[in-house]
Amino acid sequence: MPEKIIGFSKLSRDEKISWVSKNFLNNSNEFEDILNKYLNDDKDIQSIHNSLSENAISNFHLPYSISPNFLINHKNYCVPLVTEESSVVAALSNSSKFWYDRGGFKSKVISKIKTGQIHFKYNGNAENLGKFINDNEDRLIESTDRITKKMRERGGGISKIRLVNKSAELKSYYQLHVDFETIDSMGANFINSCLEIISKEFHQLLNDSPQFKESEKKIEVIMSILSNYTPECIVESSLECKIDDLGNIDGMSSEEFAFRFKNAFDIADIDINRAVTHNKGIMNGVDAVLISTGNDFRAVEAGIHAFASRKGKYKSLSDCTIIDNIFKISLRIPLSVGTVGGITDVHPMVKLSLKLLNSPTSDDLMKIICSVGLAQNFAAVKSLVTTGIQKGHMKMHLINLLIKQNATKDQIDKSEEYFRDKEINSESIKDFLDQN
Ligand code: MEV
Repeated sequence: MPEKIIGFSKLSRDEKISWVSKNFLNNSNEFEDILNKYLNDDKDIQSIHNSLSENAISNFHLPYSISPNFLINHKNYCVPLVTEESSVVAALSNSSKFWYDRGGFKSKVISKIKTGQIHFKYNGNAENLGKFINDNEDRLIESTDRITKKMRERGGGISKIRLVNKSAELKSYYQLHVDFETIDSMGANFINSCLEIISKEFHQLLNDSPQFKESEKKIEVIMSILSNYTPECIVESSLECKIDDLGNIDGMSSEEFAFRFKNAFDIADIDINRAVTHNKGIMNGVDAVLISTGNDFRAVEAGIHAFASRKGKYKSLSDCTIIDNIFKISLRIPLSVGTVGGITDVHPMVKLSLKLLNSPTSDDLMKIICSVGLAQNFAAVKSLVTTGIQKGHMKMHLINLLIKQNATKDQIDKSEEYFRDKEINSESIKDFLDQN
């Protein structure tokens, strides 16, 4: 077993590679060869990538794809997507094309408040503390004036601070909930910096207050951090048309399709096993745009899945209704995203994505991402209730399977025609390779 290493981050790139190679890869040269192939020839670009993460020794590529024809609130978008799942972009493009002719997506931002929390222990009278927070709310907010100046000039900042008493669930445990509007930035660093200042001011004000006994003044702040649960930072997108306008879908009448589709949505609403997969389909689209636009997909994923459980049970994020012959699907999700700050003005591909989306505000980006999530959901469930998912999925996956079997370029070129009317599975791929 290799020995523990201290100071790995201080080693040069070459030293890091040789240490890893020697200790974990039997000194193979393959490691360095592959890492080098993925370095960018442009030194400036490579240096940007190196600066994004500690111990970076190469780049990890994923496909950068485009899905055109996204008509959202009558505006036509060409959406950049980063995903490794072969069928996602094809499904999205089918979906956006289909809905383009049926009025496209309607989308609106419902609310945009994000919350940070100061978690602390307090042994004293809860009512007194509540009153103290109300009386000192302005002073606590003002303590952050220096760092909130620019955000306030843009219409954002801190809107509210309130005490939350959690002592019934955990002895002596309270929170200060601080509400923020961060305009076009995701705002994580801004929120966390404000919270740390408010926490110090809170301590100080409490210490100086004659209202509290000495023992009550000894609050212990455990931590100050934004919450990635953002149920008040919500966007909604919807699609609708007359059932007849759906047309004949994969040999199925529009009416049969609409009701089968609704059944699939109803199932996802009551069954957790299906709900998770149904929502995963939505996240296929959501994550692909989050990544291409340099947003924190882990934060959004965590927040969205918690939101799916907000009624005490994990449920589908999207809805389908059929009322008066109108087929409608909608998606409502929390999305805390930014179009400034973070890596949005650092990573060249992220900058390009935002340019392609016409330099969106964070509201615009929320609407785009939510619409892409709904488009992906429509495409997945459409396949599931008609042809089954494997037909389209395996078609897209075919090339990956052929590459795995060391197929030549010529064989790959011939494969599309060969598999046009055949099932794709390991047996049929073997037959094809034997015959070609
Ligand atoms: C696969 O990545 C996503 C789906 O499973 C989504 C769904 O089942 O709705 C096809």
